[in-house]
Parts: sequence; C-alpha cells; structure tokens
Amino acid sequence: MAILKIARMGHPVLSRPALPIADPGAPEIARLIVDMVDTLVDANGAGLAAPQVHVPLRLVLFRVPPGREPTGQEHARSDGDSAQASALEPPTVLINPEIEPIGTGMEEDMEACLSLPGLAGMVPRHDHIRYRWTDTGGAAHEREATGFHARVVQHECDHLDGILYPMRMTDLSTLAFTSELGRSQLPED
Ligand code: NI
Repeated sequence: MAILKIARMGHPVLSRPALPIADPGAPEIARLIVDMVDTLVDANGAGLAAPQVHVPLRLVLFRVPPGREPTGQEHARSDGDSAQASALEPPTVLINPEIEPIGTGMEEDMEACLSLPGLAGMVPRHDHIRYRWTDTGGAAHEREATGFHARVVQHECDHLDGILYPMRMTDLSTLAFTSELGRSQLPED
C-alpha cells in the first residue's frame, strides 16, 4: 500500500493523452489500482485518474458519495445506515473507458480536482451519458449515467485526454478558492 504523489496543474503528465492499457490483468495494473484507491481515500476525493499520479495510462477510478448514487437504478436514500454502507463501497475502476453522450442536454455544477487543490468552478457537462470500459479481468462493461455520476466519469475521463476542468468552463468568473465560497457577499453601496 502506498499513498501516491498527486500531480498538480502545470505538470506535463496532466496535459498529455494517456495510453491504452494492453493487459488489464497485469500485476503492475493491480498494484497501481490498490495504490490509487489508497490515494483517493487519503485525499478524500470523488475520483482519480492515473495521469494524476504520474502514470500516463487510461485508467480511472471514482466513487459516488451517498445521496448522489447513480441514477437509472436510482433510489432515494433516506436512512443513515444505508448511506454509511454506501460510503464504504470500494471505488469503481474503469480501464480504457469511452464515453458517448446521450442526447444534447447539458447541466452546470461546481467541480473541484485534486490536481487544482483548493479551487472549484462551474463546469457544463453532458447530463446523460453511456460509458464503456474493461475490468481487470478483461471483461467489457457498459453503463448509463446521469447527474453527479455522469459528471465524475466525464471529469475523470477528461484527464486521460489531457483536459482539466477549467478548460471546460464557460464562465471563469465562477473559478474560486473553496475557502472563500462561504463568504457572504459584501453589501453594495
Ligand atoms: Ni480531476
């Protein structure tokens, strides 16, 4: 187990396209996944892409926090025990993922990224996607996602193409330090 160092915006590994993984079952991929899970949990993040830990391969992992479960088979969680159990679920690992938007709908929401510590901004994303990936056993999978689930998958997969969320923003005036977001607006005179 190891906590990996996270690359920050400006490091070249974050702006280069990542390479496909030829052998998803390789022992070094299994080790990378274990270390990335440890790193994600340690950083308390929603998702992590391999280039963020200086590995230019097409692998991401993510977890959808309680109350923001995947839609499609969505069910409201009102009881605390279920939410607690959900928080402990291991992250989903996607190898060589591909995204296809469904429809033309977009929605905006705040995003942050472990490679831009302390910052957040409003990012438009497709509100409904289908994504395909390979698991560590080499099996192909496909899933539809909406809402936060769709957003985190798009954010993480963008890392595989050298794209950071500010490059998707349409209103840079919403880019802010999260520590300033709770501040109430100064009264106008
Ligand atoms: Ni990110």
